[in-house]
Amino acid sequence: MKVKSSVPLELVGYLKLADAVIITDHHHRIVDINAYYEQTTGYSRDNIIGFKAGFLKSGLTPPCTYTSLKRELRKGNPWSGVFTNRKKSGDIWHSSITITPIHIENHLYFVGVFRELEQLKEGIYLSENKRVENQRELLKVLAISCEIRDPGIEEHLLRVQILTENLVLAHNRRKHLELSKSYINHIVHASILHDIGKAEIPEGILYKPGPLSPYERKIIEMHPLMGADILNKISREINHEMISSLEVAENIITYHHEKWDGTGYPHRLTGEDIPLEARIVAIVDVFDALISRRPYKDSWPVERALSYIHEQKGKHFDPSIAETFLDYFKSNDLIV
Ligand SMILES: [Fe+2]
Ligand SMILES: [Fe+2]
Repeated sequence: MKVKSSVPLELVGYLKLADAVIITDHHHRIVDINAYYEQTTGYSRDNIIGFKAGFLKSGLTPPCTYTSLKRELRKGNPWSGVFTNRKKSGDIWHSSITITPIHIENHLYFVGVFRELEQLKEGIYLSENKRVENQRELLKVLAISCEIRDPGIEEHLLRVQILTENLVLAHNRRKHLELSKSYINHIVHASILHDIGKAEIPEGILYKPGPLSPYERKIIEMHPLMGADILNKISREINHEMISSLEVAENIITYHHEKWDGTGYPHRLTGEDIPLEARIVAIVDVFDALISRRPYKDSWPVERALSYIHEQKGKHFDPSIAETFLDYFKSNDLIV
């Protein structure tokens, strides 16, 4: 026999939504579900109406999710988050859910609208933080493997990434740029890839201890374009999720040797024609190269490298970003 719905008329409309919907009373007892909920979970209305919604839990949703859910609902606010629940078959399903408290004639109801997380039909739900962390690790492996012949490269790449993060955040603050969190993340992630093009440069030229001939210099100067080429090849092969923004990565790889005054390479761009992300990485990359030992030079003291950045403001570097960089060092007492 079909269970009669005790949902007040005002809430019936929610059951017609094209997402899975569950309605509970103030004791979290299930009052009704819609056809999409039945389809998604395998439970029929007759199976679950009258039960406490808690029986759908899988034990895999982090406890803090329930804490924030309870906190918001207690205040009478709607709440959104990610749930991992169990279907009737015992399989788990991941959904993003919005629960809204609704008062109707002295009765409180909770309307939960679930949206199945498509990409998670298989596997385990990864929080945004975990996904970002994994992506960062994968890009690190990729960047290091492209420059595997250089023994000190890992430290250089990691320092570039950390300094890029600090610089972009400081510049964003100082100039009130209001850069989005995702754009900042794209820059930080992709900064580690700036020299992947060096994978295609012959070792004899790349690590030559003495001065380079004009021909050898030309070859070295091809690494930004070779890098962009490698990036495009890789991005055709792999899941796009791994490189969060191809455009930002391509800009950093292609333009990190351009100079503000137009004397850089490969395209001799000037000023703000050079993408912001490349102008940021350019400063950090040069600075870290100066304070590191290379086959052709000793490491410079930090103060000397900073005065070089100062002197190159408006020549090699975007003057405003260089200003932020110097300021960042000064205000954080990082001059050693
Ligand atoms: Fe480079
Ligand atoms: Fe570099």
